[in-house]
Amino acid sequence: MKVLFVTAEAEPFAKTGGLADVAFALPKALHKKGIDVRVIMPKYGDIDADFANKMSQLSSFGVSVGWRNQYCGLEYLNYDGIPFYFIDNEYYFKRPGCYGYFDDGERFAFFDRAVMESVKHMDSFEPDIIHCNDWHTGMIPVYLRDVYYSSPEFANAHVVFTIHNLKYQGIYSPAVLEELLGLNMGYFTEEKLKFMDCISFMKAGIVYADRITTVSETYADEIKGDLAGEGLDGLLREKSFKLCGIVNGIDFERYDPATDKNLVLNYDRNSYAAGKAANKAELQRTMGLPEEADKPVLAVVSRLTRQKGIDLITCVMEQILDTDAQFVLLGSGDTDYQDFFEYYASAYPGKVGVKIGFDDSLASLIYAGADILLMPSQFEPCGISQMIAMRYGTVPLVRETGGLKDTVLPYNKYTGEGNGFSFSNYNAHEMLDIIRNAVDVYKNKPAFNGIIKAGLDTDNTWETGADKYVALYNDICEK
Ligand code: GLC
Repeated sequence: MKVLFVTAEAEPFAKTGGLADVAFALPKALHKKGIDVRVIMPKYGDIDADFANKMSQLSSFGVSVGWRNQYCGLEYLNYDGIPFYFIDNEYYFKRPGCYGYFDDGERFAFFDRAVMESVKHMDSFEPDIIHCNDWHTGMIPVYLRDVYYSSPEFANAHVVFTIHNLKYQGIYSPAVLEELLGLNMGYFTEEKLKFMDCISFMKAGIVYADRITTVSETYADEIKGDLAGEGLDGLLREKSFKLCGIVNGIDFERYDPATDKNLVLNYDRNSYAAGKAANKAELQRTMGLPEEADKPVLAVVSRLTRQKGIDLITCVMEQILDTDAQFVLLGSGDTDYQDFFEYYASAYPGKVGVKIGFDDSLASLIYAGADILLMPSQFEPCGISQMIAMRYGTVPLVRETGGLKDTVLPYNKYTGEGNGFSFSNYNAHEMLDIIRNAVDVYKNKPAFNGIIKAGLDTDNTWETGADKYVALYNDICEK
């Protein structure tokens, strides 16, 4: 089984969010199961020089973008046993970050076509499955049918399209059909790529892929409704015969408190109490908080955007601070939110510690040193932080949406079951009630340790998820 995994970002090369985690960890897990999986992504300008210097150029060729012909270099690097290919074009990709440019539509039109061309230059690798991810790759199944249907490299190719976040869709003027994509206006219909009065890359993926997956079962249901459907719920209901949810895992080697170099003391299930205590003291020092072992530390590690439910926190911030907990936050995003938390850090120095930015080592220290991780997302296709928290013995407190609902089992005080806390409605006071409850349970050491252990024992590896993808690939190929 040969799988070409196509993504706009992948750890450790380029990361803006959870997609990058998946684009490394899932191929790694598939590889262990004997799948010949190769990852292909853009060669961004800010990929670490250590990596860039080790890449070797396999080939270079022209790629058509509408009526133009653009340079494309195909580079290669084997990382951790996984073959990675990089699409090189400095005009499109030698810029800071991955997205957010006025010409993203053109950049990914080029990328999708370049991926198809690249396959011709991969030594006898004819994919059985092209596994596409999110809108940036949505035109690939269209190209497969429209342009490459008779190419021998693609004789057996089928497309799996995974939705990591339906909110970002890649919507552009219909002019790009001919101008950039080299497709005819026949695609500008409701059954095809038309969305509102534009065309949508996400819709292209949904309509033309052989199968659609999304990153949790609950999210697969939610996007068929108007609350999370982002205008595509009708289409997704119609296509539900080919849609399923497969919950993400995390890479247990990448996230391991026993080996994580960012911790002051490593630990495992048997030594978590001492390990967490040492890291908690270090975290409190780092964040300028008093070193109080018995105060619960409530943490947020998140992009500061509406999706992540930051509004709920800002709404009841004063009341959260009235509890016994210390509050730490690491993240960046909307400036309003950044300003808000920086204000609270300066107004309540012994109570609130804030770092605005992206900082992998501080993130690790928070996962290890905090007691409760707050994730009140408005919607969350899967979510990764709640799984990392459990792995590090920190108790997640989440809203029951998408993958948060599928991975966190709320604590039941009668049976002692549960690996976290959760609330249902998108309501700040409902969240506050559960925070108060968690802070109370924290004082009951046997109960709280039971929740920590349940988290440490939760199997959030990619084992099951990878098996499901393999079964899906096999199923497609047999048909
Ligand atoms: C997106 C989603 C997140 C998910 C990740 C990986 O970033 O917002 O919930 O965990 O993709 O699938």
